[in-house]
Amino acid sequence: MAEENQPGVNSVVPDDEGREKFKKSDNVAFYKRQMQGSNMQYKALLETMVLTEKGARFELLESYTQTKLLLSVTPCKNDTVKILIDELQPIKPRFRVPDVVTKEPQCEPLRVVRQSQHSVTLSWSEGCYQVCVWHSPFRLEILCEEQVMVTFNSRGKLWFEMLQDPSRAMSQRSELQENNAGGLWRETFRQFEDIKANGPSSVGSDLCLHGFSHVYGLPEHADGLQLKDTRASEPYRLYNLDVFAYELFSRLGLYGSVPLLVAHKPDRTLGLFWLNASETFVNVYYSPSDQQGDQSPLLKKRRKQPQTDVRWLSESGVIDCTVLLGPGPKHLFSQYAQLTGYQALPPLFSLGYHQSRWNYKNEADVKAVDAGFDLHDIPYDVIWLDIEHTDGKRYFTWDPALFPDPAGLQRHLEKKKRKLVVISDPHIKVDPDWSLYCEAKDGGHFVKSREGQIYRGSCWPGESCYLDFSNPDTRAWYSRCYSLDKYKGSTASLFIWNDMNEPSVFDGPEQTMPKDAVHHGGWEHRELHNLYGFHQHMATFEGLLTRSGGSERPFVLSRSFYAGSQRFGAVWTGDNVASWEYLKISVPMLLSLSVAGIGFCGADVGGFVKDPEPELLVRWYQAAALQPFFRGHSTIVSKRREPWLFGEEVTSAIRTVIEQRYCLLPYWYTLFHQAHTAGLPPLRPLWVEFPSEEITFTVDKQYMIGEALLACPVTGPGVKEIRVLLPGSGEVWYDVHSAEAFKGGSNVVLPVTLDTVPVFQRGGSVVCRSAGSGSCAADFQWLPLSITVALNSQGEAEGELYLDDGHSFSYRDRKAFSLRRFTMLSGRLLCRPASKEGTFDCDTVVQSVTFFGLKRKPSTVIVRVSAGAGDTAAAFQFTETCCTLTVNNLNLRVTADWEIQIG
Ligand code: GLC
Repeated sequence: MAEENQPGVNSVVPDDEGREKFKKSDNVAFYKRQMQGSNMQYKALLETMVLTEKGARFELLESYTQTKLLLSVTPCKNDTVKILIDELQPIKPRFRVPDVVTKEPQCEPLRVVRQSQHSVTLSWSEGCYQVCVWHSPFRLEILCEEQVMVTFNSRGKLWFEMLQDPSRAMSQRSELQENNAGGLWRETFRQFEDIKANGPSSVGSDLCLHGFSHVYGLPEHADGLQLKDTRASEPYRLYNLDVFAYELFSRLGLYGSVPLLVAHKPDRTLGLFWLNASETFVNVYYSPSDQQGDQSPLLKKRRKQPQTDVRWLSESGVIDCTVLLGPGPKHLFSQYAQLTGYQALPPLFSLGYHQSRWNYKNEADVKAVDAGFDLHDIPYDVIWLDIEHTDGKRYFTWDPALFPDPAGLQRHLEKKKRKLVVISDPHIKVDPDWSLYCEAKDGGHFVKSREGQIYRGSCWPGESCYLDFSNPDTRAWYSRCYSLDKYKGSTASLFIWNDMNEPSVFDGPEQTMPKDAVHHGGWEHRELHNLYGFHQHMATFEGLLTRSGGSERPFVLSRSFYAGSQRFGAVWTGDNVASWEYLKISVPMLLSLSVAGIGFCGADVGGFVKDPEPELLVRWYQAAALQPFFRGHSTIVSKRREPWLFGEEVTSAIRTVIEQRYCLLPYWYTLFHQAHTAGLPPLRPLWVEFPSEEITFTVDKQYMIGEALLACPVTGPGVKEIRVLLPGSGEVWYDVHSAEAFKGGSNVVLPVTLDTVPVFQRGGSVVCRSAGSGSCAADFQWLPLSITVALNSQGEAEGELYLDDGHSFSYRDRKAFSLRRFTMLSGRLLCRPASKEGTFDCDTVVQSVTFFGLKRKPSTVIVRVSAGAGDTAAAFQFTETCCTLTVNNLNLRVTADWEIQIG
C-alpha cells in the first residue's frame, strides 16, 4: 500500500481524524468503572496466613460481595518483594505474563516479628526489612529499618473483577443489558465492537511511596522525563499503538510499554514493576510535604514528608507487582535486570552510524549511497532497506527487478565490512500462491478471530494475516524462516528490523488488532496485547542466533517492545517529525526508556516525517551521535538527506560528529558491557550519577553517557549560548574539546556556534577513544587508543575498558574478553586487569595519554611496563593555560600491565 493510503500519513501533525482514532481514558469502560466505583472493603484474614519457603500467603475477603482473593508476598534475596493477587477460586485460570521474567529470584525466609488481631509483621534479611499486613482495611506496608517506604492499597483502591460464567450471565438477559451500560460484556468505540468472552476482568490497586516527590519511567510516551501529576490530565496509558507523528507532551499510548515506575529521593530509589500485558493506565498523584492531610497524631510524623500515590489499573490478568527496593539507582537497575534480563551485548558494528530511508530504490541506489560515504569520508556501518525492497510486501522476499542480486549486494558491502538491514513486519500477505503464507496457514501460525477463522486485517500488503508470536511453535517456525538456506538472498551480514508490531492493523480499532481476536491457548488478544512486538522481537533474535549455530550476536531493531525487550536488541521511537520540538523530546524519551531497562534506543535522526532544515539536521546528528542507537531515517515522500546534500558546511559538521562517535566507540562498547553485565543503562539521567543532588531531579535536557561524560546537545534554532548545569559541589568538569575546567555545583554559560556540542568529562574519570580514522566500526576497532585522564580535586581518576572480538559469543563461551582498569593515584596511572576472568589477546596499543587538571608542569614522566625492561622517560607536552599534560608515542599494549609516573 502506498504511503498516501495509510490513514493519517499525509498530515504532518495528526489531524482531528488522526487524534480521534485513539481512545482517551473516558472511552475505556474498565477505567471508568474503577475510577468511578466506590472503594472495595477488603480485609486480610490474618488467621489464614501460611508461611512457606515462597513467602507468606493470606486470603483477602471483600465484605460486601464476599469475594475472596489470594495474596502472596514473596521477599527475595536481591532486595525485591513480589506481591501477587489472584482469585482464590477462579472458574478458570487468569492470564499470567510469560517469557518476561527470566529468573524468579531466590526467596528469603520470613519470620514473624509481631502479630495481633489487627496486623502481622514479618521480617527478613536479618530484620532489616519488614512487611506489615493490616487486617481491616487491608493494606500492606514494606518497611526498612522500621520506616514505611511503600504501602500497597494505601487508599483502598484494590480492585479485582471476578471471572463469571458467560452462559449464566447470558441467561440473565436483562442483567446483561444493564451490564452493557458499563461495558462489561461488550464495548463499542467508533465503528468497532469489542465482545468480551470473559466479561469484566479488570484489576487495579494503588501504592503510596512515602517521602518521594519524583517518579520516572513508564515508557513509551512523548513527554518529559519526570512523570507528571495526572489529577488534571490524562493518566499514563500503556497500550502499544502505531501513532504516526505522535502528539507531544502526551500521556497517550505509543509503540511500546514498560510497566516499570522508578521513584527517587536523595537517600533511596524504589521501583514498582506491574507485570500485566493488558491495557493499563497509571495515575500519579504527588502530595508535597506542605499539603498536610490527616492530622491525627499517629500519622503526623509521616504526613510531614511528601508522598507520591501511584494507581495502576489493568483490563485483565492478575495483580503481579514487584517492589524493587534499591537502595540506590544502580542497585535498582541491577534488580530490574535480574528480573527481566540484561541488555543484549550488541555487535560492535551496530553502535556505529546507520543510514536508512524509506526507501533506497534499488541495488544501484544502495551502492551509490554506500560509495557516497567513502567519497565524503564519512564513516558508517549499515545501510537499511524498507518495505519496498520486497516482492509486493512479502517479507523474506526481494523485488526481482529492483534487487535481483541481494546476496551480491551484501557481499559488496561486506567487502567493506559493512552490513545490510532489511525490514520484516509481522503481517503476512494473504496470497495462496506464496509458500510462506501457505506454511504459516497450514502450520496454524496465525491469530484467529473471535469466530475461530483466521483473523484478517489490512496493512502494507493489503489484506493480511498476523503471526501468533505468543505461540512457542510459531516462534520456532518463524525463527527458522531466517535460516540462510530458507531466506533466499540472505547472508550472514544481513540483519533485521521488525516494524508495525504493536501490531499495526490499518482497519482495526485504534489501528491495532481487536481485543477479542484469539491467540494460542485460547487467550484473547486483550490479555497479551502489549507482548505482541516483544514476542516477534524474541523470535527474530532467536532466528538470527540459530542461523549462525549460536555463535554470532544478532542485531534486531523493533518498534514495539515490552519489559525485557532489552534482551533482544534495539528499539527506536517511531514516526517522529522533522521539527525542533521532536528533537528536544527525543532526549527525555530515550532517558525514560533507559531508566526502564531499554538501553539500546534511539530516535530517527532528522525526523521521520517532513524535511528538516539544514540547521535542524546538523543539531539532530550532534545529539544522536551521543545516543545509543544512531540511525538517520525518513519517510518515502521526504527529500533525500544523505549528509553531503546540503553544502560543505553541513557535510563537515555532520562528518565531525559521526567521526567523534566512532572515536568514542571503545567507551560506548564498555558501557554496553556494563549494561549487559550489571544492568546499567549507557544513557543516564543526571540524578542516577548524582543521586543526592535534588537540583538534578528535574533535568531532562542534559544527560550522562556512562559515569564520565555529561552531554547537553543544542536542540533549538539560532542558539547563541547555552546554559549547562554541572552538578556536584566539589566536582571538577572539563570541556572535552577545550580541556577548560569548571567547578561543579554551578551553571555555566557557553557561547554556541553551529559546531558546538557541549560535552564535559567528569573529574575522576578515564575515557578511552580510538585515535585515527576509518570507514566503519571494524576499521576503528583495532586503532591505537588515546586515553583521557580527567583528574578530580584530589588528583585521582579511574575508568574501565572492555574489549572482545566485537561480534561473537566467544566472550561468554570461551571468556575471550579483556576488562582493563585505569587508576590514577598519587601521580601514577596504572593499567591493570579489572577482573581476573577473561583473556583476550589483541595488539591494540595505547598511543597517547592526556591528563586534564594537572596542577603543575611535571619534571619527568616515566613509563614502566611490568613485564618489560626497566623504566623509560617519556617526552611530554604541558599546556599551562589549561593544565593539560599529553604523553604521545607510547605504544603500550592495552592488555599488558604498565604504569605512567608523573614526577
Ligand atoms: C512505519 C515505520 C517507519 C517505516 C514505515 C514503512 O511508519 O515507523 O520507520 O519507514 O513504516 O515501513
